[in-house]
Formats: sequence, structure tokens, C-alpha cells
Amino acid sequence: MFTEVFADLPPAPAPLSAEEFRSRQDRLTSGLSTDTLLIVPSPPERVHSNDVHYRYRTSSDLLYLTGWEDPDATAYAVHKDGAWRWGLFVQPKDTLMEIWEGRRPGIEGALAKGIVDEAHSAQDVSSVLAPLIDSCKVVMLRRGVNNEVDALVDAHVLGRSRARQRHGTGPITIEDPSSRLSELRLRKTEAEVAWMRHASNISARAHVAAMRMPPSGLNERHLQAVIEGAFVYGGASGWAYPSIVGCGENATILHYTVNDSPCAEGDIVLIDAGAEVHGYASDITRSWPVGGRFNDAQREIYSIVLAAQEAAIAECKVGRPSDAPHAAARRVLAEGLIALGVIDQALEDALDADHGQLAQWYMHGTGHWLGLDVHDVGVYSPGGAARPFESGMVITVEPGLYFGAWRPDVTCPERYANIGIRIEDDVLITDDGPVVLTADCPKTIEEIEAIMGS
Ligand code: GLY
Ligand code: MN
Ligand code: MN
Repeated sequence: MFTEVFADLPPAPAPLSAEEFRSRQDRLTSGLSTDTLLIVPSPPERVHSNDVHYRYRTSSDLLYLTGWEDPDATAYAVHKDGAWRWGLFVQPKDTLMEIWEGRRPGIEGALAKGIVDEAHSAQDVSSVLAPLIDSCKVVMLRRGVNNEVDALVDAHVLGRSRARQRHGTGPITIEDPSSRLSELRLRKTEAEVAWMRHASNISARAHVAAMRMPPSGLNERHLQAVIEGAFVYGGASGWAYPSIVGCGENATILHYTVNDSPCAEGDIVLIDAGAEVHGYASDITRSWPVGGRFNDAQREIYSIVLAAQEAAIAECKVGRPSDAPHAAARRVLAEGLIALGVIDQALEDALDADHGQLAQWYMHGTGHWLGLDVHDVGVYSPGGAARPFESGMVITVEPGLYFGAWRPDVTCPERYANIGIRIEDDVLITDDGPVVLTADCPKTIEEIEAIMGS
């Protein structure tokens, strides 16, 4: 079933090059004082049950700086002989482990990639890092990622002897590199955009595969299975976040992930699902009627959300504040609901944060940064005001309207009972205007009905 949907999938981009990682590393260290030791740990593997682990996903910061996806990795940067040197601890080659679990690049593999200057076995983290910690002044480390690395740094920084403190030798402070890293990660390079586009291309086709499922006997989990199977078929490592597949009233639950109810023909299904490729996330939502034909009420709500999304995307321009899409989407949604008689307030009242009626039916933000994390790093309003968009930023645009007839806190208009519509795309900010990375995913009523009728 996937062959046809994926027939026109553009080829995967070239692997991220050593130069790409070196350039990211240089941008980070160029802002650091030379008496700093930077350590970038990875989280330990997590047990699913007994001796079975969850699929491993390393730290996004480590991925950003090295692209190293295997467990037990730690990167570091130290200034030595007039230059920054980068090192990486990796799982060493081990024939027995490789017989059971798969081949390992090992230390040699890490060096051969050219992404670091030195590589060591993961077993040597303490013995290699301890003297480096002792001879620096500032340790830069994001705490809470790896307890063993935290404990090593604590032992050396907090446990500095009085004598060393008196003589001013040894590390003095621990600083968090996260804010520097997030500023870098917020602006995507061309190579990153290429991989994000690829993740989007795969996700778009997965949504089409779901739209093509026959409605008879359909359950939310069938749609989840098709979508997630398509991610892997298309070359992704899996989902970027747990798939949301809600039919009927479940479409009105924003982050519904139970995904086990039958889908009645005529109900709206809302699918919010995106693939992850080499750590890069995509994030798409489509909402459509099971059976393939929008009824009048669904059409009315869908058209408003689509218009709101288009207005919000038009605001994704260099120089516009990052909250402009939200303001644009809210305005169009409120105007639409006033025209339908769902909201009986004037426009400015409907938009009011305290007493506006729009918030009853639209209760979330219109987007978030997207990158190595689905809710990616990057401060939205440094200093309090929304930051202006810059070329290379990627943001989702995802307005919605949710008429949960099950809700005790509101009186849901009967005509729209249990209609939940969200339309979400991933938008790259460029000097030439917004570029929708997820444009391959059908979005208009006509496009969706044509696919479902095919
Ligand atoms: N997929 C979660 C979100 O759209 O934010
Ligand atoms: Mn999103
Ligand atoms: Mn989403």
C-alpha cells in the first residue's frame, strides 16, 4: 500500500558533513572563554521491561554538535595549544556485544568521520575528563541529562580542596550552555533544512496513506499503524512525538494519544503525527471526515480554520514578530465564529484574553519552533517582546477549533458537536517569504475529498 504513496518521494539529502558539524562546534566555542571545559552528555538508555530498552534517542544538543546517534556518547571541547579541541566518548568495538546488538563504529569510526579531534571509549569518561575538569575555570554542562556526568563534575567542582580554592586553581563555576546552544539551533542551516524537508516529505505521504484507508470497520489504531508504518517505510527512524489520532469527540482532545476507538463514518478524525529523521522532527496535523465527504457543518468550521492558517502563514516573514501568526489566526477564527453565530461578542471582545469567547473553542498557541525537538529550543520573547523572525527559523502554524460536546464547562453549539479541526504545517522563514516544508500534504477540502474518493 505504501509503494504508490511513496513513488514520488524525493531522495534523501546528502548526509550531514563533518564540515557542517565543525562549523556548528566553532560557532559555539567562539563565544566561550578559553578556560572553559564544555561537556555535552547523553541520557542513559531507559528500561522498557527487564532487559528490553526503549528505542534510544540521544540528546538533541549532542546530535546538533556531532550527529552521533548511538547510546553512551559524551562530547567535550577544551582549549589546548591555542585552539579548541573536540572529543567524543563512544561505545568501543566489542565483538560479543556486536554479535548480539549490532555493529559499532567504535573509536576508529568516530575519528574516521572527522567530526572530532579525539575519541575515547565511553568507559574512560572519568579518567579522561577528571584532569580536564581540574584544570579549567568554568565547566559548561547541562545538568539533569546524565547523572554520572553530573556526579563527576560535582565531585571535582564542589569537592575542590581548600588549598586549591585558596590558590585559585581548579574549576570555580558550573554554567549551563543551553541558552547559547538554543540560539544556534534556532537558526537552521541549509543542510538542516534539507533534512527537515525530507522528514516533512515522508510525513506528508504518511498522512496521504491514512486518508486512503477504507472507512469500513476503521479504528483509530488502524490509522496510527498506517501512519507510523509509513514513517518507517519512508526512511524515518519513527515518530517525532506520539501520534495523535482522534475520531469523533476524541478529535476535540488536543493531545489525545489513546488511539483505540472505532471511527464512525461521517465523524471527523484529527491526526497530528510527524516523522523523525536523524533527529529532525516534522509536525503535521490534518483533519478530515471518515468516509471522505465533508458535511456542511464540518465544511464551515474547516474553512474558517484553513483561512486562519493561511493568514498566519502569511505572517511568517523576516522581521515580523514571532507572535504575529497567532494574532492573525485568532482574528480570522473569531471573525468566522461571529459570522456563524457561535460567538455573540464584538470582535475585540471575542479576542479578549479574560472574557473573550474565542478561548472556549481555541485554547492553544498557533505554533512553536521546530527542529531537533518537536517543541524546539529558542526563546520566543527574549526580554519580554516577541522576537522578530529571521531567515532560517522554522515554526509550525497550527490553528484549530474544537467543539467538544462532552465538555461540562461550555455549551457546545449542537450543529458543531464534536467537530475538532486542526490544520498544522511546518514553515521555514526565508528572505523570499514563508516556505511551507509540508506543502506535499493535501490541505484544501477539494484536495482531501479527491484523495479520499480515489
Ligand atoms: N504535535 C504536538 C504539537 O503540535 O505541538
Ligand atoms: Mn505542533
Ligand atoms: Mn502537531
